[in-house]
Amino acid sequence: MELAVETRGLSRSFGSFRAVDGIDLAVPAGSFYGFLGPNGAGKSTTIKCLTGLLRPDGGSMRILGIDPVADPVAVKKRVGVVPEDLALFDRLTGEETLLFVGQIHGLDVSTARARSRDLLTLMDLTAAGTTLVTDYSHGMRKKLSLAAALLPAPKLLFLDEPFEGIDAVASRQIKDLMQSFVSRGGTIFLTSHILEIVERLSTHIGVIARGKLVAQGPIGDLRTGNGGNGTLEEIFINLVGGETAPSTSLDWI
Ligand SMILES: Nc1ncnc2c1ncn2[C@@H]1O[C@H](COP(=O)(O)OP(=O)(O)OP(=O)(O)O)[C@@H](O)[C@H]1O
Ligand SMILES: [Mg+2]
Repeated sequence: MELAVETRGLSRSFGSFRAVDGIDLAVPAGSFYGFLGPNGAGKSTTIKCLTGLLRPDGGSMRILGIDPVADPVAVKKRVGVVPEDLALFDRLTGEETLLFVGQIHGLDVSTARARSRDLLTLMDLTAAGTTLVTDYSHGMRKKLSLAAALLPAPKLLFLDEPFEGIDAVASRQIKDLMQSFVSRGGTIFLTSHILEIVERLSTHIGVIARGKLVAQGPIGDLRTGNGGNGTLEEIFINLVGGETAPSTSLDWI
């Protein structure tokens, strides 16, 4: 099986705290991989390591068959990222942002303009295309960040909470877009706390808790491991629930 993302013992600490603790990811090419875990489990830290935003301090990885430490540019050319803290330039408009991304990726101006127009239309940001990003709402920033990740037509997308703050109409469009991206051979690695969406879209799931990978595989196999049934939410809570269950009932409320 060809893997789009493969790690061995991937680790990252902050001081003495091991935020990502020796994980072995196996993300098949062409899969929609939902990466789940409670708050603070290490999902965003993992994505930052996989996309070159943070340097891991242990283990190895291959992204689309390339070692990102040896050849970071080759990986960046083929990968799109919507990071947790959206890295956008406040003093550019939406359209300028997309044209800038096109330039970085070496697209000719007419191609970048055409793709930018398509993406702004799809994200319902056409009117906002000439507005400075500093005046964007949270959801608009998220959509522009997704558009910027898609513009170079990557083979692999890393999306950290892409639906957070997105309205229902845009959410539907983005889900459709992601499905067509995968059906055309792309791979998506996504974190989301909206398990209904993850359940509907994902072919594969990885679950991280306290920095360790506690489950990974095709979504059907996780169900089998859970007694053959159950929603993703039930499976998730069975896997990590003991660590997050509240210890007090707040009966003074
Ligand atoms: N720059 C940093 N410095 C110190 N600790 C950090 C840093 N970034 C993350 N951490 C810690 O690492 C752990 C994992 O954080 P991470 O952001 O990866 O969690 P997450 O799974 O993405 O959570 P969430 O679902 O809330 O987004 C947390 O305990 C967090 O406090
Ligand atoms: Mg996070």
